[in-house]
Amino acid sequence: MTARKIIIDTDPGQDDAVAILLALASPELDIVGITAVTGNVPLSLTEKNALKICELAGKPETPVYSGAIRPLMRPLVTAEHVHGKTGLDGPDLPEPKMTLHKEHAVDFTVETLMNEESGTITLCTLGPLTNIALALIREPRIASRVKELVMMGGGFFEGGNITPAAEFNIHVDPHAADIVFRSGIPIVMMPLDVTHKALTSPTRIAAFRSIGSRPGIAVAEMLGFSERFDKEKYAGEGGPLHDPCVIAYLLAPEIFKGRKCNVTVETVSELTLGMTVVDWWGVTDRPKNAFVMRDIDHEAFFAMLVERISRL
Ligand code: RIB
Ligand code: CA
Repeated sequence: MTARKIIIDTDPGQDDAVAILLALASPELDIVGITAVTGNVPLSLTEKNALKICELAGKPETPVYSGAIRPLMRPLVTAEHVHGKTGLDGPDLPEPKMTLHKEHAVDFTVETLMNEESGTITLCTLGPLTNIALALIREPRIASRVKELVMMGGGFFEGGNITPAAEFNIHVDPHAADIVFRSGIPIVMMPLDVTHKALTSPTRIAAFRSIGSRPGIAVAEMLGFSERFDKEKYAGEGGPLHDPCVIAYLLAPEIFKGRKCNVTVETVSELTLGMTVVDWWGVTDRPKNAFVMRDIDHEAFFAMLVERISRL
């Protein structure tokens, strides 16, 4: 079986870290590159965190590129209140020895999509869509060459998590998200409506810790840190594990359920900036530009996560 070639665009972030570890532990996936984008914390930290995670996984040969330092139009909004000042609070991970590749993330993404066989590269986006939008502006021809873009972003029935209307990744760069949703790229969307059903719990965190390896213990420490914010906010026993849903879809699409819909991004109203307006009931004739997920078999999801992380 040929491994599926993927580019992971990310703003680590503890949940990004778990997604990247899942991908690095999975032989079905060939990570052609990891591109860092500003989001949860500034780019100087997201790029370093991406390196730290590759070393934690024992994969220092993974190519990591640095990308956009700010959103297209909006001032940068970050989320240290969730992820801590390093963006990866929880475990004490050493300064990385591996270094960033010199090429800019946007150039790497464009060159990869233009040089690899059309339809063979999957984009997995875990943060704001600034790098992808810049790549589309730099070379519009890439849109028809992407196999699929699987994103964590947006929300509809669940509303927002950074404003009442908007999910963080889309809110940080709504103009970039608008470019991506209008691009014609085949999109699979993992909004809050599905990630809020993938909740950690003390038992689930303990399962990572009991793996006993550095990656397993680090995952438990990361989730233990980031869940403190979510437990208070959602008054639950755990927090949503957003970004690993993207990678889990590539490995086990059958654990998700959703439907093709139109998704349109609010880019004007200050009240609802970054809202993803999902035509779930098909009441408009807008093009169905995304497969929007709403349900997950969360038992299967966490079982797969623990089994795969234990392989690192
Ligand atoms: O809203 C959740 C998303 O925003 C996740 O990708 C998290 O890492 C942050 O980037
Ligand atoms: Ca993220």
